[in-house]
Amino acid sequence: MKNDPLLQPYKIKHLELKNRLMISAHEPSYAEDGMPKDRYRLYHVERAKGGIALTMTAGSAVVSQDSPPAYNNLHAYKDEIVPWLKKITKECHEYGAKVMIQITHLGRRTNWSQYDWLPILSASPSREAAHRSFPKEAEDWDIDRIIKDYGSAAQRMKEAGMDGVEIEAYGHLLDSFWSPATNKRKDKFGGSIENRISFSLKVIDSIRKSVGNDFVVGMRMVADEDWKIGLSKEDGIQIAKKIISTNKIDFLNIIRGHIDTDPALTKVIPIQGMASAPHLDFAGEIKKEIKFPIFHASKINDVATARHAIASGKLDMVGMTRAHIADPHIIKKILEKREDNIRPCVGATYCLDRIYEGKETLCIHNPATGREKNMPHEITLKAKATKKIVIVGAGPAGLEAARVCAERGHNVIVFEATNSAGGQINLICRSNKRKDMIGIIDWRLEICKKLNVKINYNTLTTVENILSEKPNIVIIATGGIPNIEILEEGSNLVSSTWDVIAGNVNIEDDVILYDDNGSFPGLQAAEMIANKGSKLEIISPERFFSPEVGGMNYVPYARNFIEKGVNITISKRLKKVKKSGNRLVVSIGSDYSNKTESKEISQVIVEHGTIPVDELYFQLKKNSINEGVVDYKTIIKGSFNEINKNSKGNYHLYRVGDAISSRNIHAAIYDSLRICKNL
Ligand SMILES: Cc1cc2nc3c(=O)[nH]c(=O)nc-3n(C[C@H](O)[C@H](O)[C@H](O)COP(=O)(O)O)c2cc1C
Ligand code: SF4
Repeated sequence: MKNDPLLQPYKIKHLELKNRLMISAHEPSYAEDGMPKDRYRLYHVERAKGGIALTMTAGSAVVSQDSPPAYNNLHAYKDEIVPWLKKITKECHEYGAKVMIQITHLGRRTNWSQYDWLPILSASPSREAAHRSFPKEAEDWDIDRIIKDYGSAAQRMKEAGMDGVEIEAYGHLLDSFWSPATNKRKDKFGGSIENRISFSLKVIDSIRKSVGNDFVVGMRMVADEDWKIGLSKEDGIQIAKKIISTNKIDFLNIIRGHIDTDPALTKVIPIQGMASAPHLDFAGEIKKEIKFPIFHASKINDVATARHAIASGKLDMVGMTRAHIADPHIIKKILEKREDNIRPCVGATYCLDRIYEGKETLCIHNPATGREKNMPHEITLKAKATKKIVIVGAGPAGLEAARVCAERGHNVIVFEATNSAGGQINLICRSNKRKDMIGIIDWRLEICKKLNVKINYNTLTTVENILSEKPNIVIIATGGIPNIEILEEGSNLVSSTWDVIAGNVNIEDDVILYDDNGSFPGLQAAEMIANKGSKLEIISPERFFSPEVGGMNYVPYARNFIEKGVNITISKRLKKVKKSGNRLVVSIGSDYSNKTESKEISQVIVEHGTIPVDELYFQLKKNSINEGVVDYKTIIKGSFNEINKNSKGNYHLYRVGDAISSRNIHAAIYDSLRICKNL
């Protein structure tokens, strides 16, 4: 253990970092009015408790008012931020973690239609596809103003007692000046590399002047845009050397790629199905070349790879950011020899996709993240009395219920109708690129095994065999089945996306997939149909395509559909399907017009979420003590009031996940955690 490369301390200037793991800047979008209040603080403090050496708070705290928050970023330009940051820093320090903050001007990576409605700007007036704003070209007075803003923001961070700042320079304002892709200027800020980085050097200067020399200042910088029209690795090394030669920067945090479109962003922050640690060697090469403290994060989501990154000398500090969103206690578990208990980051990138849609960061299978006030990351409190708990269904909701109840010390038995655990996750894993999702199931199965949870597979559960166990509590986690009965006529002639994914139907040559859900099952089935070489049209009644799938997760599907020539039709509604010989005729209308059209086709697949499998629940409801009632008022607050309605009842009864209604994995697991942590 004492030789573990990850546990070796690292010194940067005067600052002692107690190990080599850091959380790189990421905006969880928990800010309230631009301030890091309780939710924000508790999120970072939990990770400090978990043993992280350095937490880089904020993603892109904005230094100027004409950098409106793109995803609820912190307002580093306001003095009122100081006491909030002071509180975070102080509490993280109590656990030995160091706390820095990333500051930035977002440039064109934001939108003007919010906060102060100021026009946004960039080196030159070219639009960023991801945020869809047209920036103006930064004028001389903008540049002067922003240089000062950086200095003032850094000063506020020092006042808050923070351990350092990181200047963001990839995809934002500063590097828009560096890159030939975005800087077309003819003035002293365009042309040669010296000219293009002169604004950044003035910013560094301004920051140093305001914080002095005894404060850590680093830069997260793109060292190769991996883009025909952008900065090359040679450019990146040249820029890095010039920045280091100022003697005003203490570390570089290396990025490879550009982020102006979703596909490009996924190469910088790889999602599920993409290679692990794709830029680690690159960061190592930069380190070798410039011989300077190097930080880096990009899908280093397991401890073995992180160890290798340090042991091989490629990095000085290794960022495991999403890994800590999934499990905030990684170092603690290493130290306690519980590495096998680390909740795996499965790369679903639900966390990041949500912030780009104006929602807060949540982990697909850790509902305690971002809810530290009420939800535990680890179940440490044992129940006062051991109860017999019967759970029906071993999908994500059922297994989470089993895990949490077993950790509370209860006697848990699970009935599962099929021969394996996983429920709908088994279908998801039929797609190679999403195979890591099985980690959600395996992690829970492993814990259940250690805690002697009995799982009875191949058991079609009845009320009788549940009651024969004499349970104190019954939890119904039976999930759902595809809902395809949604057409005016001909639902009996269509198949479900599950049929396609599970291989229960032959895929024909000429297929319509009607996706009236807009989530993953439709895309997964469509991809399988396209991969088979069939002609495919996906029809959606919505205004946008696949609205439940975030921008980053959409990338591989979009690529596949374009390459395979899949037709996508939006704003049309499938009405009827009729037989015509051995073919089908579909009638297609729209919510927007009375016009209908007909098409002849070989096969129709329908996706409309699931309907709950809830017979058992309703059979058990009458004789339960609570008659199925869940006290929403207390559950929302994180406590739990067990309802006693029926004095003749024998057990409490709860229903979780898709057995209630068609939702997602996070909702299913959260249902179980918030009930079971109190049982
Ligand atoms: C929710 C979320 C928000 C992020 N916001 C920022 C940001 O504002 N600035 C930044 O430099 N990186 C941001 N990132 C990128 C991370 O710092 C990191 O580079 C990325 O997640 C890859 O590392 P990982 O694979 O260890 O998660 C964000 C990541 C996530 C998950
Ligand atoms: S949502 Fe997925 S990628 Fe994000 S932290 Fe959780 S497991 Fe990792």
